[in-house]
Formats: sequence, structure tokens, C-alpha cells
Amino acid sequence: MHRLACKLLAKQVVDDYGIIRGVCLDLGCGLGWFGIELAKLTDLEVFLLDMDFDKLLKARDNALKENVKNRVHLQLADAHNLPFKDHSVNLLVCRGAVFFWERPDIAFKEVYRVMKTSAISFLGGAIGRCMPADIRIRLIDAIKREVKKLGPKEESEWWRRRKPEWLAEWLKKAGIEWFKFIPDPPGIWVEIRKIT
Ligand SMILES: C[S@@+](CC[C@H](N)C(=O)[O-])C[C@H]1O[C@@H](n2cnc3c(N)ncnc32)[C@H](O)[C@@H]1O
Repeated sequence: MHRLACKLLAKQVVDDYGIIRGVCLDLGCGLGWFGIELAKLTDLEVFLLDMDFDKLLKARDNALKENVKNRVHLQLADAHNLPFKDHSVNLLVCRGAVFFWERPDIAFKEVYRVMKTSAISFLGGAIGRCMPADIRIRLIDAIKREVKKLGPKEESEWWRRRKPEWLAEWLKKAGIEWFKFIPDPPGIWVEIRKIT
């Protein structure tokens, strides 16, 4: 299901933004599926970045199995200190990691710094709009059940972090002016564009 979600999200991002060449950064890539699926659909040079070395090793195996390792690169780094030059990224995607950042304002500033003019970032987490309705319903139920298991305090924090207000506060602290929320229950995405 997780892989299918990443495959469909990659399609959504290509359909919506049409960025098919240049540099793509999958920030907090985990097993790498979002970036790998983007590499399969486009000519992008994809950087899979995570602070967890073991996850990156698995992401490398996945890229090899999917035959995209020639355009997929691994980067062990922290989202709060990105090893990329200013204005160097055409497309940035980030699924599920934003909610774990210690200082989202600092990480969002880094995201904005590395974006080229006219680049787009798509960050947040959820299922995406291309998921068939019956699977979506099952997934939402499963996610709700998992979140409930966290206990009342962490459950309410989980939901709080997926509200536009929580993201807007950090984005404003980061000095980012142009952003748009894309609701995707039970989650949310934020689209950031760098106009100049
Ligand atoms: C919930 S997982 C999501 C993984 C993947 N994007 C996906 O869609 O399955 C969050 C990932 O973000 C990574 N992560 C969390 N905080 C990070 C940070 N500050 N810098 C880099 N990676 C981070 C974690 O190691 C983990 O792999």
C-alpha cells in the first residue's frame, strides 16, 4: 500500500507540476519509493536524502531493483542543514518527514534556500488523490487505528501537526510567503513555489 501510494503520488506530482528534468530532492526519503517512482516517470536526477543510514541502504537496493540507480543518488544528511547549493533544486518532495522535524522553521528555510527560481516543493503526508476510493477508505481506517494506538496525548499531537495552522506557523517563521495547502485526509500537503 505504501509503495502504491508513492507510485500514485509520483504520478500526481508529474501531472500537476510537469517538472521532468533537472534535480529532484526526496527529503526524508525512508525507503526511497517516492523519489524512485519519480525517477521512473521522468528524466530527473533524484537525490534520496535521509538521516537514517540503514534506510538509505534499503533505498539504494530498491533503486537498483527498479533499474534507476544511474539517476538516483543517496545523501546522508539532516533536513536542517541541507548539503545543496542555493538555487540548485527543481523539484522537492517530502512525504511524512515534516512532522518529525525538530525545528520545522529551520528546515523550511533550507528547503526554500535550495529551490531554484520557479521550483516547486510538495511536502506533507497522506495518500494522494489518485488512490482508488475503496483502497483510500481502507487506508484511512488503518491509519486512524494506528494513530489511536499512540495514546491520547500523542494521538492529539499527530492530528494537530496535520492542520494548516501548525504548518502555517512554521512556514511564516521561515519567512516563506507563497504557499498553498492541499488537504488530503487524514493528512495534508503544502505546496511551496519560489517565484523569484
Ligand atoms: C515517516 S518516514 C517517511 C519516509 C518516506 N518519505 C515515506 O514516504 O515512506 C520519515 C523519514 O524522515 C526521516 N527524517 C526525519 N527527520 C529527519 C531529518 N531531520 N533529516 C533527514 N531525515 C529525517 C526519517 O529518518 C524517516 O526515514
